[in-house]
Amino acid sequence: MLVLAIETTCDETAAAVITGELEVRSSVVASQDKLHERFGGVVPEIAARAHVERILPVVDDALRRAGIGAADLDAIAVANTPGLAGSLLIGLTAAKTLSAALQIPLVAVNHLHAHIYACRIDSRQDVFPCVGLVVSGGHTSLYQCLSPLEFQQLGGTIDDAAGEAFDKVANMLGLSYPGGPAISRVAEKGERDAYALPRSFLKDDSRLDFSFSGLKTAVRYELVGPGKPDFRQLELSEKKVADLAASFQEAVVDCLVEKSILALRKTGLGTFCVGGGVAANQRLRERLAEAMQALDVTLHLAPLKLCTDNAVMGALAVERLRAGLVEDLDLDIYPGLVRQ
Ligand code: KG4
Ligand code: ZN
Repeated sequence: MLVLAIETTCDETAAAVITGELEVRSSVVASQDKLHERFGGVVPEIAARAHVERILPVVDDALRRAGIGAADLDAIAVANTPGLAGSLLIGLTAAKTLSAALQIPLVAVNHLHAHIYACRIDSRQDVFPCVGLVVSGGHTSLYQCLSPLEFQQLGGTIDDAAGEAFDKVANMLGLSYPGGPAISRVAEKGERDAYALPRSFLKDDSRLDFSFSGLKTAVRYELVGPGKPDFRQLELSEKKVADLAASFQEAVVDCLVEKSILALRKTGLGTFCVGGGVAANQRLRERLAEAMQALDVTLHLAPLKLCTDNAVMGALAVERLRAGLVEDLDLDIYPGLVRQ
């Protein structure tokens, strides 16, 4: 079985060809980072227009690299929730068109579930049932994942996503976009306890939710505020940037690790999977490895190349296809709603 997966939920235009045995035949990701860099974040209209220009070349490239033609495909998978409306629409329209023209099934993929599913693609180990954590630019959510088809959300961020906080704090510190890799790079030279930054919902709080906007504001007040210059006059020493980056990163990691431990205790599950762009963070990977070892929980981290957005993780469609979960051509997008 050969599946073409399409991913355009945010600012990456991606396509991949995957077999029914989860073998990756090709994976193409056209990043838009350069287009959004000067704005310090993704501009939805620019993202949608770039998807329009790139989707067909990216699909062609994925087929060419896999050494197949469109007629060899058995199904088309597409991420249709959640994401930016304009971006989602481009991927869905391309997928529907291919499905109709080739007369092969259309399979819908939930982008967040796919981030967790990325953990089993290289290893091909069965990771279910597990607790899953998705930490990305748009989401920070904990799931009880009973099977590849049953994801129950346990909690999520009530404001900013972890990745969004990395991007915004990087911007305040004058670092490049996307902020996650930039912060983790400079944080290596900084002291993690140089600044006492807040960790929301950690003290005597059994919620499985996150909040990162207060942390973001706390960083801002370390830089500007009453008696401190505004951003235009800021002159930051290398040490201050490194210390703030390291302290901020540690605060985010503390929240992610503690709530993950709580989710494992509450569910009693013995396997933990982590995916999404922020899962590429080395400090988070290190701290999770320590925590899971202490808990005797099996940890599956998404491989680095499958943490940020890609179409390979759309291999989740293979599971849906086997269960007969195919869609009609009236399939819609669900930008904010997790439908499945
Ligand atoms: O999963 P993703 O590619 O897109 C969404 O679905 O949102 O995640 C992108 C996010 C960005 O906010 C980026 O700053 C963050 O992942 N990120 C990182 C790292 N690499 C990417 N955050 C922390 N440390 C990293 N090494
Ligand atoms: Zn994502």
